[in-house]
Amino acid sequence: MPLESLRDFADALEQKGQLTRVKASVDPELEVAEIMRRLMYAKDKPAVLFENVKGYTIPILGNTLGSDERLRIALEEDDFSQIGNRIVDLTRMKMPTGVFGKLKMLPKLSEISDYGPKHIDNGPVKEIVLTEEKADLSILPVLRSFKGDAGKFITFGLTVTKHPETEVNNMGVYRMQILNTRKAIMHWQIHKRGAQHLEILKDKRSKSGEEGSRDRQIPVAVIIGADPATLFSAVAPVPEGMDKYLFSGIVRKKGIKLVKCNTVDLEVPATAEIVLEGYVDPDDMQMEGPFGDHTGYYTPPEPYPCFNLTCISMRKNPIYLTTVVGKPILEDAYIGKVIERSFLPLIQMFHPEVVDFSMPPAAWFQGLAIISIKKRYPGQAKKVMMGLWGMGQLSLTKMFVTVDHDINVHDMDEVLWAVTTRTDPKRDLMIIENAPTDTLDPSSPLLNLGSKVGIDATTKWHQEGFNRDIQVLATVDEETQAHVTMKWGEYGFG
Ligand SMILES: Cc1cc2nc3c(=O)[nH]c(=O)nc-3n(C[C@H](O)[C@H](O)[C@H](O)COP(=O)(O)O)c2cc1C
Repeated sequence: MPLESLRDFADALEQKGQLTRVKASVDPELEVAEIMRRLMYAKDKPAVLFENVKGYTIPILGNTLGSDERLRIALEEDDFSQIGNRIVDLTRMKMPTGVFGKLKMLPKLSEISDYGPKHIDNGPVKEIVLTEEKADLSILPVLRSFKGDAGKFITFGLTVTKHPETEVNNMGVYRMQILNTRKAIMHWQIHKRGAQHLEILKDKRSKSGEEGSRDRQIPVAVIIGADPATLFSAVAPVPEGMDKYLFSGIVRKKGIKLVKCNTVDLEVPATAEIVLEGYVDPDDMQMEGPFGDHTGYYTPPEPYPCFNLTCISMRKNPIYLTTVVGKPILEDAYIGKVIERSFLPLIQMFHPEVVDFSMPPAAWFQGLAIISIKKRYPGQAKKVMMGLWGMGQLSLTKMFVTVDHDINVHDMDEVLWAVTTRTDPKRDLMIIENAPTDTLDPSSPLLNLGSKVGIDATTKWHQEGFNRDIQVLATVDEETQAHVTMKWGEYGFG
């Protein structure tokens, strides 16, 4: 059975020795973030539950997804590529022929129908409902992470919006800077679906002549603390048009239970810990930041729209989930690795020549990606890189390196060997100017706009204009290998 809530996940972590309870009093102002970062940098340290938070009754849970082991517990999966395979399977399903074929399909169809969300009337998230002046953000133990941060930021809220035309649910992790008890700035970057939904709504309203101040505001629910598959789904760059609640069901192989919000027309997981309901107002823009970010730099202030709170609903004794970012490698790096593994089958669906794919965490994911391909025709590496620059959030990748399938993309020694022995910069570098860049890229000459590089580090063929007779070293012949292995002890090497 998949884990149904954040507290079930915390229990599972504790049972497996992957959670420490801190009983000492801690301050959400800088102290908690410093502890969480130290634990992550030390590697192999457990997740942490701060039970005694200065000035608050709600405990803080952090670093929950900060190791491979914890992600395996969270998603109940050892091979994360199975998540992507389940989506690919859905798109490749052949219609059965004949009665026997149809009968054989029944178990599969019932499994798939199980992935969809279930709509129920009530759930633990409604145990406490605070509206009007009782809805107050200051009850939450929100962290200030670095001294230079502009304030306190909610960092692991899953922001739910509905596509204004298709009504498909989206969920993204966008940080929120608290301004006062009922207002926070919503940092959804321009390329992300929350920002896109708001733009579509604005366009729709102005076309229909409905423009009035309230019509331009988009309803939003921010989930703080959910079952781990839903946490992962909010970060995952799922294909356009796919409902994130459905994706969450695919990840956990069982649909999640949803309840209606109290003050906005949205649904949230019935077992969520805390939900902030409200609306984001495009006419109320405020400067967000600076914020110590996952690039290892402060992201400077930029204008973003404000979230206005209408209701807080939560469980009895809720847990506040948080994460901290900073110079890699921290918790988000581990989540990113699972995204890399689980989305490889989807990349391969569009580019079947792709053998493997790596986004090194030190390069904060959008900085660099390495792809290995089985090359069949001249120039194919460039085709793959151009194709990936057109795929969802991969469009924000600054540098692509493409190597042959004999190179292990996860071994930087092999990758550097290939780049330096198989690349002629003039021939093999592709520079794209004035292209979209990650909003957080500290080296981008303009916000959201800069250049990209694609490096074709595959072996060059005659058809690609390389005519020198250069031979790669083969491994020593089998006979010599066997001979040396046999005499290894005799040489005195044990
Ligand atoms: C810890 C963490 C914090 C994040 N903060 C932000 C943020 O403030 N703004 C943003 O646009 N994306 C942020 N992201 C990345 C998005 O959650 C991610 O790109 C997601 O796929 C957004 O999806 P969407 O565009 O499908 O909604 C964050 C990711 C993580 C793991």
